[in-house]
Amino acid sequence: MIILALESSCDETAAAILKTDGRRFDILSEKVWSQINIHKKFGGVVPEVAARNHVLKIIPVLEETLIGAGVKPNKLDAIAVTAGPGLITSLIVGVQTAKTLAYAWHKPLIPVNHVKAHLYANWLNNQPIKFPAIGLIVSGGHTELILLKNPTSLKKIGATVDDAAGEAFDKTSQLLKLGYPGGVAIALKAEPGDCSAFNFPRPMINAANFNFSFSGLKTAVLYATKKINKLNNKIIADLCASFEQAVVDTLTVKTIRAAHQYKAKTIILAGGVAANKKLRITLQQQAEKNSFNLSLPLIKYCTDNAAMIAAAGYFAKPAKLEKINADPSWEI
Ligand code: KG4
Ligand code: ZN
Repeated sequence: MIILALESSCDETAAAILKTDGRRFDILSEKVWSQINIHKKFGGVVPEVAARNHVLKIIPVLEETLIGAGVKPNKLDAIAVTAGPGLITSLIVGVQTAKTLAYAWHKPLIPVNHVKAHLYANWLNNQPIKFPAIGLIVSGGHTELILLKNPTSLKKIGATVDDAAGEAFDKTSQLLKLGYPGGVAIALKAEPGDCSAFNFPRPMINAANFNFSFSGLKTAVLYATKKINKLNNKIIADLCASFEQAVVDTLTVKTIRAAHQYKAKTIILAGGVAANKKLRITLQQQAEKNSFNLSLPLIKYCTDNAAMIAAAGYFAKPAKLEKINADPSWEI
């Protein structure tokens, strides 16, 4: 079947066309128009500005994607759209566009949960995934551990109680004046740094549950900077490397523990922070050591895109148009 997907939950306007028989997942065409350069000067995403830019870009992005795939609307089997969670005004642009297209073209419309969809980015690798699996979703707004009994049975077993992992990267980057988005900036600065220079906490690492907490870590970085007279390049590199190591250690230890507890065969990594090299390498080493398979999404499918929305759409169900609405706080 052929699925057209639209994504506009935050600051990326994206469309993709997926061809799948349920075994192979091939993206025929895709386009991601990122607003990062627009929001950079504000140090984060400004919802109103994001929504206005989605309005300007969604039709050009859609047209380019359809032309790129050489697919006429009458060849589409369904349309999938991110219905939540995300910024309400941004979500509305994608949802209303998709509803209009579905109505005009007489196509079923599939509302997709954005956080869940990050996991399905892994199906685009076309590598079989063995179940049960433990999914670690680490993005700007979410940090969740998910038990997957099969591709459609998902249960949340843990989540952050405060900041998401990506949010911790973004806030720490802001604190160190390294710019937005923080994940990429911190990872870059961390490369020459000494990851044991600062002994930052590994929050909730020993808690008897699968929840996370990252807000204290950002505060620990703040206190460390207050004790230093002048921040030079070496100290910034050491702060970034030590912070990154603390996040990676916490995520890895809890994920491996969850995989053992639920007798998982595979660990699936997903979300914007899944682009982090240190996290990918550390999880790879620990998965091998503990005999779990590891599925890593392609770097281009870690951050927001519509290809993952199309893949998630394949596993979800269409709904009546009048029942589909943007839901900014849709939980898995
Ligand atoms: O999944 P995503 O694109 O958007 C949400 O759904 O939230 O994730 C964006 C998050 C941002 O917080 C960004 O700083 C983080 O992913 N990120 C990274 C890296 N690349 C993006 N964090 C750590 N290392 C990276 N290389
Ligand atoms: Zn996302």
